[in-house]
Amino acid sequence: MIKLAVLVSGRGTNLAAILEAAREGRLGVRPVLVLSDRPDARALSVAQTYGVRTAARDVAGPGGRRAFFAWAERELVESGAELIALAGFMRLLPAGMVQRFRWRILNIHPSLLPAFPGLDAPRQAVEHGVRISGCTVHFVDEGMDTGPIVLQAAVPVLPDDTPGTLAARIRKEEHRLYPEAIRLFAAGRLRIEGRRVRILPGQKDI
Ligand code: GAR
Repeated sequence: MIKLAVLVSGRGTNLAAILEAAREGRLGVRPVLVLSDRPDARALSVAQTYGVRTAARDVAGPGGRRAFFAWAERELVESGAELIALAGFMRLLPAGMVQRFRWRILNIHPSLLPAFPGLDAPRQAVEHGVRISGCTVHFVDEGMDTGPIVLQAAVPVLPDDTPGTLAARIRKEEHRLYPEAIRLFAAGRLRIEGRRVRILPGQKDI
């Protein structure tokens, strides 16, 4: 079992999918910390439901972004986390933190990267008029949603979609995809080769 920390800012539906799969013993991870930049995030109560320790600090509080990330880094180191999953965490990590946990941070993003990085990806997809969108789990590097891609899933964009209806369709796929990516990481089956991630065969595949 590897120790998992999850960073959240919002509702926590991906967090719930991860914690549920972990509780069922499907992931090979032990969640040790859920950390938020928003003390009012609903995701924190999701974590409490699963009995996972939470830590929250307002990024808009004293010291701002710098103080927040210095605190967050300390919390993560103290938790002993071996994998950090960003699950609806709406901030770019400082380069120092990315380097400290190099290739041990995953993110989920609601588009087929490299299309539509950044905020409001489902809105960007609807406004651009694409016919297919989806979600991406990727390793975090210093850029905005630019790191090596682990898994992707596609969904159709329907003529009457709003950003909200598309986001809901994407989220369903996210709840399947993110636990799967975490399971592969925990099993030591992800190997980064330049920009590409090779998925090594599992016991059952050999
Ligand atoms: C998810 O759709 C995730 O992909 C997105 O925020 C949502 C969080 O939902 N993340 C980003 O847009 C990151 N740039 P949740 O809090 O219910 O898991």
